[in-house]
Amino acid sequence: MAVKYQIPRGTFDILPEESYKWQYLKNIFREITRTFNYKEVVTPIFEMSELFERSVGVSSDIVQKEMYKFKDKKGRIFALRPEGTAPIVRSYVANNLGRDGDLSKLFYMGPMFRYERPQKGRYRQHFQYGIENIGSENPYIDAEVIAVGFNFLKKLGLNNFELQINSIGCPNCTLDYNKALVAYFSSYYDELCPDCKIRIKKNPKRLLDCKVKSCKEIGANAPSMLDYLDDECEIHFKKVQENLSKINISFTINSRIVRGLDYYTKTAFEFIDNNLGAKNTLIGGGRYDGLVKQLGGNDIPGIGFAGGFERLIVSMEKEGLQFGKEQNPDVFLVSLGEEAKEFGISFLSKLRNNRISAEISIDKNSLKAQMKAANKSKAQFALILGENEIKKEEITLKNMETGSQELVKLADIVEKLLQILKIK
Ligand code: HAM
Repeated sequence: MAVKYQIPRGTFDILPEESYKWQYLKNIFREITRTFNYKEVVTPIFEMSELFERSVGVSSDIVQKEMYKFKDKKGRIFALRPEGTAPIVRSYVANNLGRDGDLSKLFYMGPMFRYERPQKGRYRQHFQYGIENIGSENPYIDAEVIAVGFNFLKKLGLNNFELQINSIGCPNCTLDYNKALVAYFSSYYDELCPDCKIRIKKNPKRLLDCKVKSCKEIGANAPSMLDYLDDECEIHFKKVQENLSKINISFTINSRIVRGLDYYTKTAFEFIDNNLGAKNTLIGGGRYDGLVKQLGGNDIPGIGFAGGFERLIVSMEKEGLQFGKEQNPDVFLVSLGEEAKEFGISFLSKLRNNRISAEISIDKNSLKAQMKAANKSKAQFALILGENEIKKEEITLKNMETGSQELVKLADIVEKLLQILKIK
C-alpha cells in the first residue's frame, strides 16, 4: 500500500521501541532538577510572534528565517515557539512570579519548532529540556545553573563532553566591542557572505556565529569580547569561574561563543560533544539580565539553559550507554480452555488493579501460540492457567528468563508477585 500522507520534513515519529529512551531522559531530568529545587512550568506551544521578535531578536537567524509564523482567524500573528526562554519570561511577568522577591527556579520540557535545513542533530521540531533561574545576578547562580546541566549529563553516564564558557558582556561593553568588530570585518567586507554583509550593519556580534567557512576563517582573528569587558562584567566572569572550580566543574574559556539569540548578557556557555560532528552542542545557555524588563517586567536578571533530547540520544548511543530498562509487562497470562479464559479475564483485572503490569493474548488459544506471544512481549513471568489448575485453585508461575516454574495457590499469587516484583 502506498503511503499517502508523509510526515513533515525535518520531523520524526518516536516509535514504541524508542519511546522508553525519551521517558528515561525526562525522568532523569526531573530527578536532577528536583535536587536543585526547580519546579516545572508548562507554556503554550504557540505565542504571539512579536514575543520572539522582541527577545530573540529581529536580526537573529531564528526570527529572520526559522519561525513558523501564522495568522489565526482574527488576523493575529502567532509563531510556533522556536525556544523556551521568551515564553517563560512572558509567563513570569504575566503571572507576577517574582512578587515575593524570591528566586524563580523553573524547568520545562517540550517541543520547539525551527524551520531549519534538516540534518543529523537538527530538526524542524526538536524536543528541548531546560531551566530558567530568574531573580539573581549573583555569579554563584551562574555556576549553579551550569551545575544542573553538568549533573544531568553526568547522571546519564556521559563522559565525552566539554563545558565552554564565555562572557559576552553587557550593553555597555558591547558598544565598544561592536565598534572593534565593525572595524575588523570592514577590511574584509568584500569577502563576507551576503548574510554577514547585513550582520555588520545590524548586529556585528552575529558575525562570529556565521557558519560559512570563509567567514569563519576571517572571524578566527577577530577581536575578543573578553578584551572589551567593563570592570563589572570582568569581575562577574572571574567569580563564575571561581564558583565553578569550587564545585569541581572544569571548563575551557571560548571567547568565540556568542550564542544565536539576542537576549544574552555576561555569561554564555555550551556543553559540547566533540564526537557529534557539526551539530555538537548538547546544551546552550547564558545570562539574560535585560530580558524581563524588555518584556514588560521589572529590572530583574535571569540565567538558564536548554538542550535537545535528539542529540543527547545520539551522544549516549555513541558512548554505549543504556536508557534504563525498556518497559515490558511483568506477567503474561496464558489460559488454556474456555473456563480458564473466562476466569483469566477477571484475574487479569485483579493483577492490574494491584499495580502488576499484565498482558494476555485474547485471540490465541493454543499453549504454543500463547507462549510465543509471551516471549515476544518480553514479560518477566508467564502465569499459566489450565482447567486443572482452576479446579485445584492453583496457577503455574514460570520465570521466562530461567525457564523454571512452580505451582502457586491462586489465593497467594498476587502477594507473591508483588514481593518478587518489589512493587510496594
Ligand atoms: P539554543 O542554543 O538555540 O538555545 O538551543 C538549545 C539547544 O537546543 C541546542 O544546544 C541544541 O541542543 C538544541 N537544538 C536547538 N535547535 C535544534 C534543532 N533544530 N534540532 C535539534 N536540536 C536543536 C535556546 O533555545 C535558549 N532558549 C537556551 C537558554 C535557556 N538560554 C537561556 N535559557
